Amino acid sequence: MRTVKSIAAMQRLALKWKRSGVKIGFVPTMGYLHAGHISLVTEARKRVGPKGKVVLSIYVNPTQFGPKEDFSKYPRDLQRDTTLCHAGGVDIIFAPTDTDMYPRPEGYAYSTYVLEETLSQAMEGASRPTHFRGVTTIVSKLFNIVLPDVAIFGAKDWQQATIIQRMVRDLNFPLKIVVAQTHREADGLAMSSRNKYLNPEERTQATILWRAIQTAKAEVKASKAPLAAARLKQKLAKLIASQPAARLDYIEFFVPDALTTATKISRGTHMALAVFFGNTRLIDNARL
Ligand code: PAF
Repeated sequence: MRTVKSIAAMQRLALKWKRSGVKIGFVPTMGYLHAGHISLVTEARKRVGPKGKVVLSIYVNPTQFGPKEDFSKYPRDLQRDTTLCHAGGVDIIFAPTDTDMYPRPEGYAYSTYVLEETLSQAMEGASRPTHFRGVTTIVSKLFNIVLPDVAIFGAKDWQQATIIQRMVRDLNFPLKIVVAQTHREADGLAMSSRNKYLNPEERTQATILWRAIQTAKAEVKASKAPLAAARLKQKLAKLIASQPAARLDYIEFFVPDALTTATKISRGTHMALAVFFGNTRLIDNARL
């Protein structure tokens, strides 16, 4: 395994592989890896086989953070990540720098962005207005550099994965997107690099996201008729408010691929929620 920092070197390597018919599996990340990321690596390996190459990118992308968000304090530890990647079977870590990804030489500043205009409006897009512009831009750049045959995204960021799928379709990127299952701690909390910010009390209370999902699932299972979304939302908001450290950002029920709001909930409706614990914002989602 080796780490490549230069964009040109990564692109050259990917082109060489492509010319000799080697399949490339790609896992884009912002680093501070956990078992969830490694499960995406395992999925990538499964897709490209033992002769293929698995590339994992580590880049904390500034354009997907709002001005008041945690860009500067987002956890970074390349050494620790390198050990995990080595053990997880990654072939190449691609870890570019900010100045290479968004150059600002004199007389020229980075000025091209990729914008998805429909799926990115609600939920995360409503709470973080410039977030998805940053995500679609960086993911496009990474696809053009790594040239993957298959790229793996985690289902925890359901809206992100759906937008990327749409972008790939709309802009004709020649690759397959795979959405892999959310990895959870034993108590149900979805694995996330941001869990590191939680103090012990917040960490205990953070299971409320998973418990809210379980409650919604149980309600759907128990009901013979479709449920009114507004009433269920109210019930779940109350449950979340029972945790003193929790502050609800949103709960949404929606049609999984179109991401359109569902006012009636039945089996197969998707639920997503975002909850703050202090300054830490956690998200989760599931099919009900
Ligand atoms: O999901 C993430 O970690 C990021 O949004 C991604 C896809 C690596 C783009 O920066």
